[in-house]
Amino acid sequence: MTLPTLPTLATIDPHHLTLTGSIRSERRLSDLEGVFEDEAARCAAVERDDPVVYRVFAVERGADESGALSFGLGVLQPGRVGDEYFMTKGHLHTRREAAEVYVGMAGRGIMLLEDHRDGRCRAVAFGPNDVVYVPGHTAHRTVNVGTEPLAYLGIYPSDAGHDYAAIASGNFRQRVVRTDDAPRVVERAARVVPGGAS
Ligand SMILES: [Fe+2]
Repeated sequence: MTLPTLPTLATIDPHHLTLTGSIRSERRLSDLEGVFEDEAARCAAVERDDPVVYRVFAVERGADESGALSFGLGVLQPGRVGDEYFMTKGHLHTRREAAEVYVGMAGRGIMLLEDHRDGRCRAVAFGPNDVVYVPGHTAHRTVNVGTEPLAYLGIYPSDAGHDYAAIASGNFRQRVVRTDDAPRVVERAARVVPGGAS
């Protein structure tokens, strides 16, 4: 199969936060069931205006092209559902050992990292000019804790793949809430299993 030739140069428009030569996708609040703790608040906001929470502008090579890299500009809007800031779904890579590099472009964010081998969690504050290294086997989710769009470039192996199901079944162990006008990272309350052992 012949892959389309991708441009050698892609350019981020810093004012409109777009990326030339990319394919755009977006997630609205209605796409984020199970992500936020306050499901009633999410449903109410979906009924109200179902806002776009984030967009991704991706420039991707085929997954079968050995050694290739893909990249994408993520733009996460400011906002909250209940006491939680807008965040991405988060994912593991299907090829678990695949790492990724994020480069902050605009706004104020926190990246939640969770190693699925030992359960270790980290929350990394980042912004423009910060580089976040996401090791393999690590679930990653970005959270916008500012008042402006949070923009970042993610660079990853083209065959990494995105596994959302592993997150959807258990969510991240940490979440970021607004307390006294400031972001705070808290442990997710243990889930109550009806009829289960306490
Ligand atoms: Fe990723």
